[in-house]
Amino acid sequence: MSGGTPHDRFLGRLFLAESPFERLSLEKGFTMESVALADEFNDIFSDRVLNVPLSFIREILKTAQEPGMISFAGGLPNKDLFPVKALRKASGKVFDLYGGAPLQYASSEGLDDLRTFIAERYRKRGVTGIKAENIMITCGSQQALDLLGKILVNEGDTVVLEEPSYLGAIQALSFYRPRFKMVSLNDDGLDVPALKGALAARAKLMYVIPNFQNPSGVSYADENRQAVAEVVRKTKTYLVEDDPYGELRFAGTAKASFMNLCPENTVLLGTFSKTLTPGLRLGWVVLPPELYEKMLIAKQATDLHTNSFAQRLVAQYLKDNDCDAHIAKIVAQYGAQKKAMMRAIAKHLPPEVKTTNPEGGMFLWATLPRGLSSMKLSDLAIENKVCIVPGHPFYVGKKDVSTCRLSFSCVNEDVIFEGMTRLGKAVEKLMASA
Ligand SMILES: Cc1ncc(COP(=O)(O)O)c(C=O)c1O
Repeated sequence: MSGGTPHDRFLGRLFLAESPFERLSLEKGFTMESVALADEFNDIFSDRVLNVPLSFIREILKTAQEPGMISFAGGLPNKDLFPVKALRKASGKVFDLYGGAPLQYASSEGLDDLRTFIAERYRKRGVTGIKAENIMITCGSQQALDLLGKILVNEGDTVVLEEPSYLGAIQALSFYRPRFKMVSLNDDGLDVPALKGALAARAKLMYVIPNFQNPSGVSYADENRQAVAEVVRKTKTYLVEDDPYGELRFAGTAKASFMNLCPENTVLLGTFSKTLTPGLRLGWVVLPPELYEKMLIAKQATDLHTNSFAQRLVAQYLKDNDCDAHIAKIVAQYGAQKKAMMRAIAKHLPPEVKTTNPEGGMFLWATLPRGLSSMKLSDLAIENKVCIVPGHPFYVGKKDVSTCRLSFSCVNEDVIFEGMTRLGKAVEKLMASA
């Protein structure tokens, strides 16, 4: 416990805040009382939770809601594309057809109709060998990550991640206190020699996002997928393929899932969050038979089952609506916004700033010149009323980096151009001060 009154400690933290962003999040995220509470009760918490930081992005999203702020920060799907009318209709129909049944406790595996739909959709997309009984419905794919950690990872086990990786996966898996080994993500996918080295440390699992990765927007090329599968096939490592964005492709051609390339090693995660709505919290995991029962135990112990009404609602929606047409709308809008963002970058950011040019998904990744600090850029950007996500939360153990994430899913073309004008000025100021 640190000295002084709670008031002194609160003011002390504000004073020590190194940046406008940190100051803002302290002022908004913590009250004097919460600082005092955290200090007083530190010794009651488990080592597990003390090991894991609060999600930095949740904090930055609070800043993004300031009046007049333009946000390239949020990783949110665009709410204007949620099929509200169709879901309202499906909801009425569920009550008419099933009465109170979908409000009852339900099976831990998930609703059969939904699992059958998901298996059939994989078959149509050319992902082979998935049956309904291999699928478990989870509370978002985020829960599947937590459950996989729970059943597979002991303290000190090796877990391999892409560098950079999805912040939510780093957070979920950190609870199980693994040793993370990071493998660089290049423009065409994983660094294969580095992967070989990392897996040699008897990794229990590796976690990858081969399509339109969060945060970078990178997709693995065909040859890279083949090479990665070749390496993984020789190991006992589970390759967790997280694919929330795979159906949001606005350019190029679909690539093979690891489920086709190394099925014995692959655990596949999916979600309705980006193609339908995240608020219903419906995701799933496709598991090899030897993992299924242990996941079921973990699922039962955690929450018994996923929201049964939400499952029935989405099953009804999918039965009565053309979900391909709905996804096509999302793809058209995100594709147009990504193009606008690339044009705005070319116009307003100096050529020394390099970016990825994703073929789908919701994000692109910018690298600043001469190793400049993206945390400093974030602070300058906030002063100019535009938010980005500095790159460091997507790494393990780095305090600052020169990369940052820009999201194009929730901003229309005019907003993109205005936001990029503001960001361009912040970059110029940063470069001039370097
Ligand atoms: C790569 C990745 N995996 C998982 C998730 C979590 O998705 P869900 O809403 O299904 O829990 C996200 C959400 O942004 C994501 O980007």
